[in-house]
Amino acid sequence: MKIVPHKREVTNELHHTHNDLPAQTRTGMIPILNARLADTIDLLHQAKQAHWNVKGRNFIALHKLFDEIAEAADEHMDLIAERAVQLGGVAEGTIQIGARRSELEPYPLEISDDQDHVAAMSAALAAYGKRVRQAIDQSDELGDKDTADMFTEISRAADKYLWFVESHLDREAHPARRRKAS
Ligand SMILES: [Fe+2]
Repeated sequence: MKIVPHKREVTNELHHTHNDLPAQTRTGMIPILNARLADTIDLLHQAKQAHWNVKGRNFIALHKLFDEIAEAADEHMDLIAERAVQLGGVAEGTIQIGARRSELEPYPLEISDDQDHVAAMSAALAAYGKRVRQAIDQSDELGDKDTADMFTEISRAADKYLWFVESHLDREAHPARRRKAS
């Protein structure tokens, strides 16, 4: 079934709102929010992939930690999507669009060893944090300090989880993986 969108409520690409941020600022923010929404959807499922498949000596700690990362990503996904709508935009948050737009590397499907998951999840969190940090600056430049603050909160969480995950890296036993994760 094809749903025909009802155009009446949309003016100048934005939905009407009394939000006093200039339309130009809000229009500029929507694609930035949707780009990071796609990354967040991807990160959430990458963390679940790690949560389900990790094996090894650190199983229970990492199994729980990866689930915590997925839960945090779920909260951040909601913050980012709802911010886009608050600004008069459309949150584009389907799995299909998330998969197409995400800038994260695909999570490896063939790994199970805990150290391999530590390396893969560290790389994902670092790439995610870098893009969220860029979004802080982009929001600031567009004059949207509220979104800059939201992205600051999210990047702080990404840094914290990167620290938690990297702390499981067995640096003595796996010097090669240490390089891979950096
Ligand atoms: Fe679970």
